Amino acid sequence: MNDTTYEEKLKAEADLWGDEFAQLAQSAPPDWRCYRDLRHNVIMHTADVDELLTHIKPGMRALELGCATGWISLAMAQQGAVVTGSDLSEKALSIARHYYESIKDQVAGSVEYHAADMNAIQLPENTYDVIVVKSVLHHLINLDHTITEIHKALKPGGILWASDTDGDEAASTVIIAGGLCLVLPTATSYADKLQALLKFGVRAPSRVKASIQAEGLSPFEGAGREHDWIKLIERQFTIEKRVDAPAFTGYVTAQLKAPDWFALPLLKTFRWIDQRLVNRKLLHNTGVILYARKK
Ligand SMILES: C[S@@+](CC[C@H](N)C(=O)[O-])C[C@H]1O[C@@H](n2cnc3c(N)ncnc32)[C@H](O)[C@@H]1O
Repeated sequence: MNDTTYEEKLKAEADLWGDEFAQLAQSAPPDWRCYRDLRHNVIMHTADVDELLTHIKPGMRALELGCATGWISLAMAQQGAVVTGSDLSEKALSIARHYYESIKDQVAGSVEYHAADMNAIQLPENTYDVIVVKSVLHHLINLDHTITEIHKALKPGGILWASDTDGDEAASTVIIAGGLCLVLPTATSYADKLQALLKFGVRAPSRVKASIQAEGLSPFEGAGREHDWIKLIERQFTIEKRVDAPAFTGYVTAQLKAPDWFALPLLKTFRWIDQRLVNRKLLHNTGVILYARKK
């Protein structure tokens, strides 16, 4: 990708996420009332997103950056907020607009969607009560600019809710996640897993790490890992709450191929153990949610 221009990379990024979210929208409409019951969300995100939504009140102005098909933007509008959703991917945004139009009459607030590149975004001053950024910061190359714009766009006392990966995956995460995926049923057969283990030997953990970090998935995947987004936010905001996500459960949840009756209790148990190990600092969390207030 070295000779690829920034514009070409942006287009590839937009296409990739457009296709990914179009596929997801085929199994469930981009609506939190449906998405909250998807297995990955039940295990990893439902409690956190539900908590965010308790902060959204009728009439509030909210902005979501990197909104994809707009399921959080819509959920905030369903709470009565006046919402703007923004993303690079026109394909994802057209799914968002189409779905919103189909249920608009039942939505207490409103939402509108715009395409923009967060690396170069220009936002209006003192406009929003809440800005939401989920799973996007690690794709950005101009984080300092983006976070300064977010700060400018919030009203005094406004809240930034940012959820993202926190640096590189730790060796402990890689080993536990890799080990569990070796013994549990996944999309890869046991014969293939064994063959890969024999082939890669001591290099197997670095393959698992690349898989967890989804290296090569997106042209910008991990670009923002080189910047410390938490430090950048701390510089301009007061951190009111920090939630450290579990270390290995998210990856195992994504890989496990098993029916719900087996998968859900198992994954909930992993999550319970994982969260306690992270809280006691025995495992390094891979994800962080910040509630950051504009000073
Ligand atoms: C991992 S997805 C997360 C989507 C959504 N926030 C969620 O949690 O389901 C990353 C999203 O960021 C968007 N994105 C990536 N780079 C971007 C950029 N430079 N400007 C705006 N959006 C971008 C992608 O199009 C994609 O929708």
